[in-house]
Amino acid sequence: MPYKVKDISLAPQGEKKIRWVQEHMPVLERIKSDFSEEKPFRGVTIGSCLHLEPKTINLGLTLKAGGAEVAMTGCNPLSTQDDATAAGAKMGLNMYGWRGETNEEYYENIHRVLDHEPDILIDDGADMIFLVHRERPELLDGIIGACEETTTGINRLRAMAADGALKFPVMAVNDAYTKYLFDNRYGTGQSTFDSIMGATNMLIAGKTVVVCGYGWCGRGIAMRAEGLGASVIVTEVDPIRALEARMDGFRVMKVSDAVKEADILITATGNTDVVSESEFLNMKDGCVMANSGHFNVEINREALEELSREKKKVKEDIEVFIMPDGRKLYLLAEGRLVNLASERGQGHPAEIMDMSFAMQALSARHLLQEKPEPGVYRAPDEIDLMVARMKLDAMDIEIDELTEEQRLYLESWEEGT
Ligand code: NAI
Repeated sequence: MPYKVKDISLAPQGEKKIRWVQEHMPVLERIKSDFSEEKPFRGVTIGSCLHLEPKTINLGLTLKAGGAEVAMTGCNPLSTQDDATAAGAKMGLNMYGWRGETNEEYYENIHRVLDHEPDILIDDGADMIFLVHRERPELLDGIIGACEETTTGINRLRAMAADGALKFPVMAVNDAYTKYLFDNRYGTGQSTFDSIMGATNMLIAGKTVVVCGYGWCGRGIAMRAEGLGASVIVTEVDPIRALEARMDGFRVMKVSDAVKEADILITATGNTDVVSESEFLNMKDGCVMANSGHFNVEINREALEELSREKKKVKEDIEVFIMPDGRKLYLLAEGRLVNLASERGQGHPAEIMDMSFAMQALSARHLLQEKPEPGVYRAPDEIDLMVARMKLDAMDIEIDELTEEQRLYLESWEEGT
């Protein structure tokens, strides 16, 4: 099985990590067991570009159990766990990636996956989907479709579809309820703090935490910051979400004002240049900045570097930028998504990725069965509900069912008596 990983001898350690997450991904394990009987992907090659860590390797193993030939690379040069990729390679996945790839190596590895001529792509951020359109158009005809994991990727793909540039169908896995309500909110909320606390060993209680963006990720981050005892300020550009944040109990203000009070600032907008020159000039001394959005463009690191008189690495994952007036501003994980790119970052808990990857696996099967026209599609509600039911089942939670009378009542337009 071809692979290019950092050190294959790390496999036993990676295998232990994979076995551990498997115990906490009951829905994916159930799908894996069904797939290994049905073999829905027999004769199909699946190429993925996902954060390479034990949970995604388990998704790869699920697709392989379904009969697929699987080739995997990472979607972020810093989020790869080298022991997990070594184990994945040993377990029969074509694995390309290592932690700390250069930008050039990052794209080379995506090309290595594409060299397998995949029928289906599974992407996180849409880098692989863009690359195949831009640089490997000869492969487009053979691609049945793709599944995209995250908000940023789907935003980019919708723009591409609107321009008529998208040449195959894409399942917007992020738009499933069992994805964004849990992964973006509870997953990002918990894992962002796990990584910030792991990198800094800072106390959160009593701090002022500024959260930029009150989308699904921002809501989760703000909720967890409050739970840890911080005073939370939200910044937004959308009036409805700003109102929602206010009524959820948080202070809302412009980012230029919020930075004056920020002990910790976290971006989760999916947008660019959210924190830039004017914010750095006004930022509170000692502020620790982290990004949880998909790309490292939310906090303008180049501007920070230009404005500062000195920059140094304090320790793994923490850089300090000393401003001309002596203020020290700290940036975690180079401004890349902190919950995966920091050394301590393990991504979301396995119980959360259980649902996200169940959606990925079932959406890939749906693509194969339905072969829709090029465009961006929400996963069908039946799949979403099926994943939610399997999760409840695994959690040993029973819920009520509508009686026939209740169903008729809800469907009727006549006045109730
Ligand atoms: P969303 O679309 O629900 O929320 C983004 C929010 O940011 C919106 O309310 C928008 O109005 C706001 N916003 C945009 N520009 C802004 C600005 N300049 N200042 C303040 N607010 C601004 O998106 P979601 O799902 O919360 O995702 C956010 C980002 O996080 C995306 O890049 C997504 O891909 C990424 N993501 C990261 C995860 C992780 O593990 N770290 C997990 C899931 C998503």
